[in-house]
Amino acid sequence: MATSIFSSLLLFLFLSCAINSTPVASSKQDNDYLISSRIISHPAVEKQSHFRFYWHDIHSGPNPTNVRVAQAAETNKSSTFFGAVNIIDDPLTTGPDVNSKLVGRSQGILAAAGLYKLEYLMAMNLVFTDGKYNGSTIAILGHNEVFTAVREMPIVGGSGLFRFAHGYVQARTYSHDLVTRDAVVEYNVFVNHY
Ligand SMILES: *[C@@H]1O[C@H](CO)[C@@H](O)[C@H](O)[C@H]1NC(C)=O
Ligand SMILES: *[C@@H]1O[C@H](CO)[C@@H](O)[C@H](O)[C@H]1NC(C)=O
Repeated sequence: MATSIFSSLLLFLFLSCAINSTPVASSKQDNDYLISSRIISHPAVEKQSHFRFYWHDIHSGPNPTNVRVAQAAETNKSSTFFGAVNIIDDPLTTGPDVNSKLVGRSQGILAAAGLYKLEYLMAMNLVFTDGKYNGSTIAILGHNEVFTAVREMPIVGGSGLFRFAHGYVQARTYSHDLVTRDAVVEYNVFVNHY
């Protein structure tokens, strides 16, 4: 009899423990898509690289690198192309001559987002194709007021050698044909990465 009371007590204690431990089990389940979370100690050794190249935006000729993909009904009446959306795949070269060494391409979306000025929302990837940076990319999301001397745009990330990238780019127009709208723009990229 005493043994049976004792084993009931043990069973009761066991069940209470099991019930008490339930919240732990369920919170673990809630986070079952979290694979790991660890503390990153700073300062880690980060470097800042400065790249300079020329961005060729070609509208004219048989092989444009900038194409209009959409526009609003109002776009045709707008002096700032407001509402136009263009896709680019612009070559990046070491010099202002389009035939100088190709180091990558700038691929992305340019949306004319300025009602009163020629201003673009730029969402583009600098896709490097040369040397050790071949295959690595830098992502840019920024504001480009085309007729100002220096336009600064944030680097929001990167891949490959540019993992965890942050920084900024500065764009300066090197040449611009008002008729064809072809442009060559000098890009200075200041990117922090590991
Ligand atoms: C805008 O103008 C272009 C050519 O000038 C024409 O092809 C296009 O249909 C016009 N778009 C609208 C939405 O009016
Ligand atoms: C860049 O990488 C691609 C894919 O690995 C390769 O085909 C290409 O030849 C490389 N280009 C240069 C210039 O190294």
